[in-house]
Amino acid sequence: MNPDQALKKIAEDVSSCNKCELYHSREKGVPGEGPSNAEIIFIGEGPGFHENMQGRPFVGAAGDLLVELLDSIGMKREDVFITNVVKCRPPGNRDPAPEELKACNLFLDQQLQIINPSVIVTLGRFSMAKFFPHAKISEIHGQPTRVKGMLVVPFFHPAAALHRPSLRSVVEEDFAKLPALIDGAEKTPVIQPEEPEDNNDQVEQLSLF
Ligand code: URA
Ligand code: SF4
Repeated sequence: MNPDQALKKIAEDVSSCNKCELYHSREKGVPGEGPSNAEIIFIGEGPGFHENMQGRPFVGAAGDLLVELLDSIGMKREDVFITNVVKCRPPGNRDPAPEELKACNLFLDQQLQIINPSVIVTLGRFSMAKFFPHAKISEIHGQPTRVKGMLVVPFFHPAAALHRPSLRSVVEEDFAKLPALIDGAEKTPVIQPEEPEDNNDQVEQLSLF
């Protein structure tokens, strides 16, 4: 299978998946979209109302802001891969549950393996937690870390800027830093992914392929 076929297979698997409860509220699965050789992947939380209806990620209000933010740094949505940690819509846009994140994690890992991006931008705390389960987004947003050869950059979710106008300038400033972070990627220190702690039952470390 070539990379495009492999991504298509994942999309098909998502649309018939029933590995977690979220399949009940699925109108269309939202596997993600973008070139299979994208250098950058943006990972959000999960489909909302419009995404669920259209089967495409970030096509509602948060998506409009994401496109605007990409545009502000000379990037187009067609040039990057955009996906989410859960591929089906949590009812009423509630937070994805730990068991749902765990059930869906394999799809994201497969996508990361196929696309093999140099840069991963996490949008919001749920995709941040895949890489940094114990971190606080308010403390590490905009700070790059190299994990398994990829630069991981956690950002606030664009929807957070829509709900909290005071965050808007923070989100804009983080995006503005992205091109320079990408250019300086080799200088960013490498860290090992955090080891799960036995006594931490709040956040479960998901496998990182
Ligand atoms: N918010 C997300 O996290 N993902 C989407 O696809 C849309 C809104
Ligand atoms: Fe399957 Fe992921 Fe959808 Fe759950 S959210 S049903 S694991 S595709």
